Amino acid sequence: MLDDAPVALRDSFRRFNDGGGKFRLAVINACNLDCAFCHNEAMANPRRGGVRRDVLGVDDLVAIASAWARLGGAQINLTGGEPLALPELVPLIEAIDKRATRIALNSNVLLAERLLRRPRVAAIDVILASLHTLDDATWRDQLGGGRARDATDAIVALARHGYRVDLNYSLGPANRDHFDDVLDFALAHDLHLKAIALVRSSTAPGFYGGDWVDPAWLAARLDARGAACEGSRDSFGGRRTTYRIGRCKIEVKNIAAGRLHTDFCRGCLHQAQCGEGIYGLRTGVDGLLKPCLLRRDRHRPIEPRGDLERQLLDAVHTMVGDWSSARFVGGAPG
Ligand SMILES: C[S@@+](CC[C@H](N)C(=O)[O-])C[C@H]1O[C@@H](n2cnc3c(N)ncnc32)[C@H](O)[C@@H]1O
Repeated sequence: MLDDAPVALRDSFRRFNDGGGKFRLAVINACNLDCAFCHNEAMANPRRGGVRRDVLGVDDLVAIASAWARLGGAQINLTGGEPLALPELVPLIEAIDKRATRIALNSNVLLAERLLRRPRVAAIDVILASLHTLDDATWRDQLGGGRARDATDAIVALARHGYRVDLNYSLGPANRDHFDDVLDFALAHDLHLKAIALVRSSTAPGFYGGDWVDPAWLAARLDARGAACEGSRDSFGGRRTTYRIGRCKIEVKNIAAGRLHTDFCRGCLHQAQCGEGIYGLRTGVDGLLKPCLLRRDRHRPIEPRGDLERQLLDAVHTMVGDWSSARFVGGAPG
């Protein structure tokens, strides 16, 4: 329990939790898509020559998620790979001792049938459905297959089945002109939409497939659509600005307007290229605790049969560090 932890670890955890820091648990590294920009939560994607890699099993993942919930973590993002490709996904979710923690399922929803053929899973608080374009050619060329219509039909069906579905749009050079289509779909179905710019997960030249697209550009599009700006806040993962059009909330995350650098970033050689700042703690089937996508030298094994709460607290504390030296820095990443 959090109250039994040393004060410094407790303070860091509270700061992380209250500041919007995320806990991303990848339940599988395989995916049915192969998005050109995908960080795959710092795991190999078998579609790019990696292998299906399950260092940890379902019981381990349940134990890790439950430990986060026991600490009072606000949210667990179940991600991958494609979580719906994991046959044991529903029993895994139902086994988590989630308490007051919100469970968000990140998914491309092409395998939605696996949720639609059974009663709604009450433990899933929200499905964060990826929707980057409505154009089939872009699906084929950038996302590695699938069709826009299959995703949009699945989103509508999941909402009708009783799930809260929010949309996730990752903005890059290939789909910057498709934002209005995605917004129209959100508005037509009263769905919330979150937009973020592409986050560099490797130092490979040409990672973005063109120039990094500053999401400030979306503000102009939203203005033109009559969106009301409800305010901005600096948070773990970057400056978040919220807009509203009718019943839809649209959140734009912009690291160029401010991303968090902490003690963890001191001496980091990737600072000029960093497209995320301190954002979220990632772990999952690869058995690693990952405070940062780019700093693979700082990934550490997680011991599933050890004191999980302490391991999670230590990892968060490493990311937060001495808060008096934390700062939000601006500027486009390289
Ligand atoms: C890694 S995916 C895994 C879950 C699932 N397969 C999906 O497509 O939602 C989770 C989310 O991260 C986003 N994402 C992946 N790589 C990204 C990157 N380099 N920059 C911004 N968003 C990214 C995806 O678009 C998706 O919305």
